[in-house]
Amino acid sequence: MIHIPKAEYTRRRKALMAQMEPNSIAILPAAAVAIRNRDVEHVYRQDSDFQYLSGFPEPEAVIVLMPGRQHGEYVLFCRERNVERELWDGLRAGTEGAIRDFGADDAFPITDIDDILPGLIEGRDRVYSAMGSNAEFDRHLMEWINVIRSKAHLGAQPPNEFVALDHLLHDMRLYKSAAEVKVMREAARISCAAHVKAMQASRAGLYEFSLEAELDYEFRKGGAKMPAYGSIVAAGRNSCILHYQQNDALLKDGDLVLIDAGCEIDCYASDITRTWPVSGKFSPEQKAIYEIVLASQEAAFAQIAPNKHWNQAHEATVQVITAGLVKLGLLQGNVDELIASEAYRAFYMHRAGHWLGMDVHDVGEYKVGGEWRVLEVGMALTVEPGIYISPDNQNVAKKWRGIGVRIEDDVVVTKQGCEILTGGVPKTVAEIEALMAAAR
Ligand code: GLY
Ligand code: MN
Ligand code: MN
Repeated sequence: MIHIPKAEYTRRRKALMAQMEPNSIAILPAAAVAIRNRDVEHVYRQDSDFQYLSGFPEPEAVIVLMPGRQHGEYVLFCRERNVERELWDGLRAGTEGAIRDFGADDAFPITDIDDILPGLIEGRDRVYSAMGSNAEFDRHLMEWINVIRSKAHLGAQPPNEFVALDHLLHDMRLYKSAAEVKVMREAARISCAAHVKAMQASRAGLYEFSLEAELDYEFRKGGAKMPAYGSIVAAGRNSCILHYQQNDALLKDGDLVLIDAGCEIDCYASDITRTWPVSGKFSPEQKAIYEIVLASQEAAFAQIAPNKHWNQAHEATVQVITAGLVKLGLLQGNVDELIASEAYRAFYMHRAGHWLGMDVHDVGEYKVGGEWRVLEVGMALTVEPGIYISPDNQNVAKKWRGIGVRIEDDVVVTKQGCEILTGGVPKTVAEIEALMAAAR
């Protein structure tokens, strides 16, 4: 299976440590287990920062990075092996596995962290952590610091600076390595196959979750353990709800269905949206809206290249969508003025994309020094323009109401421009209608 090689985790830790101030320590907790109901847990998904630096897939673990430490710079606290617990809940790496299989220089039982970690922090000037994102961990960290402070009269030296780790770490995550792009290509490939399958299966009389079942099957069959986020399967007027999650309505003849879904591989997301007619043939109004969205996406791709800034792709979509809506009579007036007054936002109320990576809405700054970020090779993002005509919009003729179209692809910035990772799903009206006709 395609995955991030072990050596890459080592390289990341070293790169982070090289950027940390002298005599500092970084501390990161694993994601907590989330309870679904009573004694049932949600499927465990590691915290992305933790995963990025360790590849260690278990809960109840803490990464400690101490640049320059003689006895090893990378310490991992984790659960000990336990025959009884492993019988019930699954295998654990244990401290030996943490060293043997996950590259830790040193490993300790998580149950000993209160005794050991203050001693590791003591004498370091600065602590890097994800302050503010995990209240319980922040509280623990302060308890460990207070242990050191309480021994100050004995000569213990508590750290004096607390630094948000995000800035360094999230900037690293923004630039995807060749190995990361390879994993993301694989996630994209599987997600493309899933969208094709859902298009082929689309029929009036099914439910939205029937198509979700096709997606889930293709994800897992293709080699992905899980979706990267809750799949959106939105038919008819539901396509105008941006983050629709209910997925339980009936598919009807004449309606569009919008599917926004992607799997993740080794914690790397894909994020694809396609919109198609439930029964395989676009109505004239649906087609008119669809063509504008598609043209706006093409215009956006042309604005994704090194030295173009983050917002240029969005601006391109706004231009094409506003002009298109004027042409159809859905907006009236001068295109430039409608853009300046943001009139298009009644139909296109989100941005053209976001960073993509281990988190579907990935980390990384969009502005630097108050200016839109300039794109660089290795940055991954989505391009996802849409037009949504509210079923309640009294300003437009009835025939337009309830039409929602989004088209979303994943790209990586390359030297020449960008590589589209998700080109494997039909996108033009003719391609979609042909694929669906062949499946009938
Ligand atoms: N799937 C959420 C998004 O497209 O941003
Ligand atoms: Mn999406
Ligand atoms: Mn997206």
